[in-house]
Amino acid sequence: MKKILVTGGLGFIGSHTVVELQNTGFDVIIIDNLSNSKMEVLDNIEQITSKKAAFFNIDLRNKKEVKHFFNTNTIDGIIHFAASKAVGESVEKPLDYYENNIGTLVYILQEMRDHKIDHFIFSSSCTVYGQAAELPITEKSPVKPAISPYGNTKQIGEEIIRDTCKVHNMNAIALRYFNPIGAHDSIKIGELPLGVPQNLIPYITQTAAGIREQLSVFGNDYDTPDGTAIRDYIHVVDLAKAHTAALQRLLSNENKEKFEYFNVGTGKGSSVLEIINAFEHANNLKLNYKITTRREGDVTAAYADTNKVANELNWKTEKTLEEALKSAWEWQKSLI
Ligand code: UD1
Repeated sequence: MKKILVTGGLGFIGSHTVVELQNTGFDVIIIDNLSNSKMEVLDNIEQITSKKAAFFNIDLRNKKEVKHFFNTNTIDGIIHFAASKAVGESVEKPLDYYENNIGTLVYILQEMRDHKIDHFIFSSSCTVYGQAAELPITEKSPVKPAISPYGNTKQIGEEIIRDTCKVHNMNAIALRYFNPIGAHDSIKIGELPLGVPQNLIPYITQTAAGIREQLSVFGNDYDTPDGTAIRDYIHVVDLAKAHTAALQRLLSNENKEKFEYFNVGTGKGSSVLEIINAFEHANNLKLNYKITTRREGDVTAAYADTNKVANELNWKTEKTLEEALKSAWEWQKSLI
């Protein structure tokens, strides 16, 4: 049984990926510092899969602990989720973001080099494309200068991995996520935003639950059919499965280059108003919302061209937007 280290394995995408890995037959070890996750997620994962993942509460900035971990554990591959992800906060605290997202990446890659661990999956983001000139966004679309330190950490992270794969015995895949939403069918794991949610779906579900009074729609003067911004919302379980597919590609040496990257989205764009309508319809309720001004740094439209990921990873989405929005609401209700 291959042993896979999942950093940030108690987080939103991490926890769903641990479930898929265990269901596929991998032995999972989780490292998480609980900075944006809860310990009970570990038990909830076990309830879903009936498998126990080994867990280490390690802050990856602690080089000594990281070293000790790798000296005492044998690992076949790594999926690296652990990182900070709040765009606004990254503008306020750039050095924290570079330390936490870049410093820790370097430590892990050094350990991979020293312990001859060959397979690495990196959480990247469609944010690397900025506002792409052409839609849907293919992997050939150029990487644009990042607007935020957070976005920059994803770009720099990819470059560090690319340079490392060139000279060390290492193969890596970066997955450029579009907008992950929803929760596991069991409603035992889902998104746990810290404080006031910045992302659309948790803000919607908290508004529906009465935790937030009103949802603000950030701008209806975009150059889109209804004036609101368009994104590609992907069910988190589908996204998790893209990680197992990427890992299996590396483990079976099917990768064509030492460093590869894939867009992971549904290929379909939805506007904010379309999402609101779909959420209301899927869950048979009404949302209190108002139109406000644009949020700084937001692009007009982003959705994935999924040809590369479909052809190379043999992966495609299985779940619908409606399923994602239903599960997001069921998850929110389960938290009350
Ligand atoms: C955001 C980040 C992106 C990050 C991703 C992680 C910004 C600018 N971008 O993507 O870098 O990788 O989260 O999940 O923060 N919206 C509202 N009202 C709200 C919240 C959002 O109208 O209360 C709108 C936004 O303007 C946007 C859409 O909903 O058009 C989606 O927003 P969000 O969920 O924050 O995702 P992104 O901005 O695409």
